[in-house]
Amino acid sequence: MTTSLPRQDRIRRAIELLRHDTTDKFDDVVGFTAQEFIDPVLAQEERDYVFGQVPSIVAHGSEIAKPYDFLTVTMPRNNVLVVRQKDGSVKAFVNLCRHRGALLEQNEKGRCRFFSCAYHRWSYDPDGSLRMITRDNTFGDIDRSAQGLVELPCEERHGFIWIIDNAHASINVAEWLGPEMDTILAGYHLDELTCFRAAGFDEPTNWKIMQDAFLDGYHIQYAHPNSAGKIIHTNVMAFEDFGRHCRFIAPRKSIDRWLEEDPGDQPLDPYVTETHFLLPNSTLLRQPDHFQLLTFRPHPTDPTRSRMEQRLMVPPVEASGLEQSHWEHRWDKNWQILLTVLHNEDFPLLRDSQQGMGSADAGGMLLGRNEVANQVFHREIRKLLAQGRAAT
Ligand code: FES
Ligand SMILES: [Fe+2]
Repeated sequence: MTTSLPRQDRIRRAIELLRHDTTDKFDDVVGFTAQEFIDPVLAQEERDYVFGQVPSIVAHGSEIAKPYDFLTVTMPRNNVLVVRQKDGSVKAFVNLCRHRGALLEQNEKGRCRFFSCAYHRWSYDPDGSLRMITRDNTFGDIDRSAQGLVELPCEERHGFIWIIDNAHASINVAEWLGPEMDTILAGYHLDELTCFRAAGFDEPTNWKIMQDAFLDGYHIQYAHPNSAGKIIHTNVMAFEDFGRHCRFIAPRKSIDRWLEEDPGDQPLDPYVTETHFLLPNSTLLRQPDHFQLLTFRPHPTDPTRSRMEQRLMVPPVEASGLEQSHWEHRWDKNWQILLTVLHNEDFPLLRDSQQGMGSADAGGMLLGRNEVANQVFHREIRKLLAQGRAAT
């Protein structure tokens, strides 16, 4: 495993691995148990010590591009309302009215100059401050500044909106990413791309089973023999471990032309997909001409359920040189291909895995030395849980 070689050299390393029919590996296999996917106590710890402590991505900035654009998201600990402010910054709040606790904003997305509660019509400004109490003389002289929306730590960086799902935490995304991943993401200029489409899927599967499947270069030819398996090599990963986050290059089959012949100075980018794991719950896929983000979030109460979100980040139509209809057609096609593979091939397998994990006598299971990114994911989640337990 190497770190921070120039990209063309990292791709050449993937070619070398392919030539020798091997992959980067860890030294040991790692065990895990079925309990980790069904235990409600562990699920509570994950909500508090993972999502309540560290930043995770909730959207691409272009999804709420203009002032007063908002979106809502169900995080593991809070219902959240994310609002683009008048000055262009982004704030996140607990999506709950401070009168009697009604869900303040019901819609998934929209634009709103003030948020008005459906129950007794208290209203709030986009910056979260309490704007109006209906029949306010009946409340008398209360401290209005104490009844604004509860703010959550939120930061926009590298084009994405990040939140820590805990009003008492403070956020520093650069520090969380660390120098390597922060520099890598900065180099992608993701803020110059636009989110072509975002969609979420509620699945009867623990979030870690879901996340594991999208860090896995080992299942491709077996689970996807007629789709991804035809395009991407199985179990060939040129891997870099940054200690918290990681990334790996997987060669496409089109790269085979360079197995015999030296590619010389040919740019090799079109022949690979690069997968980034952003702890705690995202896979960012760098494709030759766009990015895909896959995010996995635990259900607020049930360890056997989760929500996956899929996003496609592409050059905006003006920058693409394409006509609007071509641009839409092109990315729509791309979106549908990914969606079909997920829904027809991955999701059914993963639902069945969850069912299997409910077996009382499941026995221990293993992550192979080749399952490098999965090992990082399991290792780092365990670390966060241990830190959380030690702090309480
Ligand atoms: S609960 Fe929102 S105004 Fe009463
Ligand atoms: Fe898959």
